[in-house]
Amino acid sequence: MSDAACAGRFITVEGIDGCGKSTQARLLVEDLERAGYDVLALREPGGVAISEKIRALLLDPANVEMSATCELLLYEAARAQLVHEVVAPALAEGRVVVCDRFYDSTTAYQGYAGGVPLDAVTRANELAVGACAPDLTLVFDIDPMLAQERTASRAQDRMEAKGMGYQQRVAEGFRAIAAAEPARVKRIDAARDIDAIHADVMAAVQAILPRG
Ligand code: TMP
Repeated sequence: MSDAACAGRFITVEGIDGCGKSTQARLLVEDLERAGYDVLALREPGGVAISEKIRALLLDPANVEMSATCELLLYEAARAQLVHEVVAPALAEGRVVVCDRFYDSTTAYQGYAGGVPLDAVTRANELAVGACAPDLTLVFDIDPMLAQERTASRAQDRMEAKGMGYQQRVAEGFRAIAAAEPARVKRIDAARDIDAIHADVMAAVQAILPRG
């Protein structure tokens, strides 16, 4: 990070539901720890007690009345608390933070798919994270139909229940984000086997790591 308060490295993994990013995040963290890096693995929404409570509100299928603005602000509230409690301190200590989703999810889901104006989403993202922007973001790109087949056996949360059209718009949103910020955001073909995807992940990550 360029900010002196954020001396570590901040890596985020993104993609539609069922894209395989959580498996890839786990493999990445294991490799980094084996190589001797001090790694903090997190997920969004969640990661600390307050944010996990907000996650439960966001994903509860019973909360059918939730407005798009309420949804946006709850994701940002969960993020602001996570950044305050653990991301900013970890980066200041020089640790490598790997977060399963971060503000690009808000841009893709609440912005591109949910219809909240993108400039409002960007301002809300900036308010929530301050100086703690990711150094590298990996977007796992996959056809939403294929992703849905992978997740078909598990119960749907409130976000997954928004349906295939919504997932298609999220996928387009992530592609637009990757196209707009090619230096930070790397698009990875997530339809391949786990090892091939992991090799691409490690190549992208090694390019931004401090020498261990
Ligand atoms: P997960 O299934 O990857 O844990 O993410 C939970 C759900 O929340 C997933 O459907 C994506 C959604 N989400 C948003 O809509 N906006 C956000 O900002 C984040 C972080 C997640």
